[in-house]
Amino acid sequence: MNRTAAERLLLPDPETALPPRLIWAANRFRMETENRKSRRYGGKGPHHWYALLFLMRTLKVLLKVTRQYETGVRNAWDIAVREIDVRLPRLPPAFDGFTVLHLSDLHLDGMPGLEQAILERTGAIDFDLCVLTGDYRTELHGPIGPTMDRLRQLVAGLRSRHGVLGILGNHDDCHMVGPMEAMGIRMLVNESVRLTRGEEVLQVVGTDDVHYYFTDQAVHALEAARSAFTMALVHSPEAYDIAADLGVDLYLCGHTHAGQVCLPGGRPVIKHLSRGRRFYRGTWTYRGMVGVTNAGAGTSGVPVRFNTRGEILRLTLRRAAVESHSAPDPPRRTTQ
Ligand SMILES: [Fe+2]
Repeated sequence: MNRTAAERLLLPDPETALPPRLIWAANRFRMETENRKSRRYGGKGPHHWYALLFLMRTLKVLLKVTRQYETGVRNAWDIAVREIDVRLPRLPPAFDGFTVLHLSDLHLDGMPGLEQAILERTGAIDFDLCVLTGDYRTELHGPIGPTMDRLRQLVAGLRSRHGVLGILGNHDDCHMVGPMEAMGIRMLVNESVRLTRGEEVLQVVGTDDVHYYFTDQAVHALEAARSAFTMALVHSPEAYDIAADLGVDLYLCGHTHAGQVCLPGGRPVIKHLSRGRRFYRGTWTYRGMVGVTNAGAGTSGVPVRFNTRGEILRLTLRRAAVESHSAPDPPRRTTQ
């Protein structure tokens, strides 16, 4: 193939360029093994996780001493199934009424049997597409087999017309991608997929986690939103502004567990967010982009919840005007 001088200078040679997934895997593996986390504004060293671990262990001891532990465990298993209509002004008419089962933050090794509990709650639910927004295990390191076995049972029981799409969270290991694809999940590793109905397109972009493993590859993946109506799957809300600027229409995420351990009234003690902290739960809007932060079905650290519930979401996409619940946003950048 003849390439111009400019193309030779600016674009990788397709004959010799490394596949993007290989570049991603090498980078992710290095960060995981060195326990180095990459965030949008500065990295995090191993001390961050050790401090969190200490906090979790202290919380567990405190709950046991005060005899609140069993109550917290019962609360964690009280998982809600919520139906949400999501109003989207640019939704292609053919996808009006399209339904999405949104599962997040399963942490399957933290609550053995959770996969069956989810299947019991979703067995009677009808949906077009299932999306998984990361954090399949609790541990940050170690074997992935037990978590993959539980996830396989869950996925085998889901009846989704357009299949299951998944992304990784900050608790997940880059080696999960292969087994997850082998069980039938279409993994989006800074990649996109297009669903079509006639001439109309619903594009789904999935990024790698942006809480511990933020890279430019995630941003480049979101750039695909400029070309079609786009639903983005991102583990945490922390890339909300990038996504909105790039023209994402719907941003589905989790990670926060809606606080998991909250004060009376639902005020969280910790949100685990360095950006977009006001988007730690529920449905929200930003510059015309609609976001949904799933409270997660599982738990992290200690298998308890207080003053917040785990949830399974069934989203129905509706073509309609967005209602803003906050101050008017600046005009949205025009996308083609
Ligand atoms: Fe997470």
